[in-house]
Amino acid sequence: MVAKPFFFDTKAHMLICTDPRCAESGSSVLFQAVWQGLETEKLAYYKTGGNLRLSESGCLGACNFGPTVACYFKRNNHLEQAWFANMDYPKTMQLAKALQADLELPVLGRFDL
Ligand code: FES
Repeated sequence: MVAKPFFFDTKAHMLICTDPRCAESGSSVLFQAVWQGLETEKLAYYKTGGNLRLSESGCLGACNFGPTVACYFKRNNHLEQAWFANMDYPKTMQLAKALQADLELPVLGRFDL
């Protein structure tokens, strides 16, 4: 039998752009803060009760409106997406909590609708 990695159940994957234009707007600091926030709030996929993943990403195409955050998530067995501009720590954590709890996502900053 071939060994394989353990799969952590994942409700959503959040991507924070840390390319230079968003980094000028504080996205690298935002990424580190959200990483800590997911751990503290036990929302991170490897923490008890948490099912969220977080990654740095390259340009998400909204450079003049950074920090930009995209997320992919499961709802009703479908893969969905949501894209946000001008994100900060409170707004990103509000998004994370909504994703974890399967609540309606915030509309502030959302630009894919
Ligand atoms: S640099 Fe972040 S969206 Fe382009």
